[in-house]
Amino acid sequence: MISIIPLVEIDPALVEQLLDAAFGKDRHERTAYKVREGMNILEGLSVAAVDSAENELLGSLQCWPVALTDEQGKMHPMIMVGPVAVHPDCQGEGVGKAMLGAMLKELQEGESLPLVMIGDPAYYDRFFDFSPARTRGWTLPGPWEPDRLLVRAHETAKLPKKGKLGPWVRPASP
Ligand SMILES: CC(C)(COP(=O)(O)OP(=O)(O)OC[C@H]1O[C@@H](n2cnc3c(N)ncnc32)[C@H](O)[C@@H]1OP(=O)(O)O)[C@@H](O)C(=O)NCCC(=O)NCCS
Repeated sequence: MISIIPLVEIDPALVEQLLDAAFGKDRHERTAYKVREGMNILEGLSVAAVDSAENELLGSLQCWPVALTDEQGKMHPMIMVGPVAVHPDCQGEGVGKAMLGAMLKELQEGESLPLVMIGDPAYYDRFFDFSPARTRGWTLPGPWEPDRLLVRAHETAKLPKKGKLGPWVRPASP
């Protein structure tokens, strides 16, 4: 029996173990970590999947405050989704879909900040409308595969064509 609960209710050490199991211990070198460096998770949107009968952590999904800085230096706030991790022993059993569904339910459809992530479009585009089509002119603080830089935003949302993604911090004063 899968339950989706706030991630803050889980011991952080267990979450780290799960992320190591899903992504490997070298995961901290990934560009996604640099994009949200120094930020704290958005607690209201970050969830865990647990097997309440077995008292086991099955999955975790974290969200972060990030921003796309356009060519004029203006920051456009966004929500970075990820890592999304499902324990290797229970992948393909609906845990990922349950966590993404719970997170999206917290957001006002059409009124949310854009959601951005680095992930597999074969999963995130197919099931959740995250697409690389509008991120082609964006850059990141490290290497990335353009087809895996995905955004989910209302079609009328004005997204800068060019910009650099990074932590959502107060711009340095001139
Ligand atoms: C990717 C991940 C989050 C998906 O969660 P999950 O609980 O395993 O998947 P779900 O049960 O929600 O969804 C299953 C469906 O997604 C598909 N699917 C799962 N992972 C996929 C992937 N990486 N690419 C394409 N499709 C995928 C399955 O084939 C299945 O399709 P079906 O419904 O047509 O049978 C999870 O497998 C995971 O954590 N993987 C390890 C980390 C990783 O590789 N992440 C990559 C993206 S950051």
